[in-house]
Amino acid sequence: KAGIQVAIDGPAGAGKSTVAREVARRLDYLYIDTGAMYRALTWLALQKDIDLNDESALSLLAEATDIRLLPALEGLKVLINGQDVTDAIRLPEVSRHVSQVAAVAGVRVPMVRLQQRLAEECGVVMDGRDICAYVLPRAEVKIFLTASIEERARRRYLEMSAKGVDITLEQLQADIAQRDKEDECRDVAPLVKAEDAQLLDTTGMDREAVVQQVLQMVHKAG
Ligand code: C5P
Repeated sequence: KAGIQVAIDGPAGAGKSTVAREVARRLDYLYIDTGAMYRALTWLALQKDIDLNDESALSLLAEATDIRLLPALEGLKVLINGQDVTDAIRLPEVSRHVSQVAAVAGVRVPMVRLQQRLAEECGVVMDGRDICAYVLPRAEVKIFLTASIEERARRRYLEMSAKGVDITLEQLQADIAQRDKEDECRDVAPLVKAEDAQLLDTTGMDREAVVQQVLQMVHKAG
């Protein structure tokens, strides 16, 4: 097996996916965005008008759904039952409901199974909320990536404005704070820094500096 496992957890908007994707690119590792899987399922549930309080309906949907992450020029292409939802899963509507869907134990089981299967392949960088503690407990590098709420909201705002999504900075900050709270307070696999994860606070750091820090951790571990 070539390469190691790099696990990155952290709150919403900390830049996990940007950093994880870039680190994977430079190491020629597989990048796995687990948030995209929960987002895709949430998109499908909304599309199908499934009651998000109905845990068994959501669990059945998760078991019966085919989710794929395909490497693309710009990051990953996300397919759910063959349909390309790469852009749709980033919309505020999905962001607002994803934590509710991801809190359902019966949803997490097939998702974690898929994530672990993908990680068998080779060197991987995987980002999410429960990767260090649950999905890849034996990862050689474990990182908790975070930044202040103001900075996370600002970064997300720039991203959204560039895409032409109509949302204010205040609304985004409120959405992010709400999502963090839901992710931290849930019963199954809550968002928390794993004991053996290294804390990386990126407030005030630019992307390249963060990427370099992570690469250093990888080189030390390898
Ligand atoms: O990483 P991202 O912000 O795209 O994740 C969206 C949501 O998916 C999170 O707010 C969380 O509710 C859920 N999630 C999770 N476990 C993961 C990754 C994401 O519960 N490993």
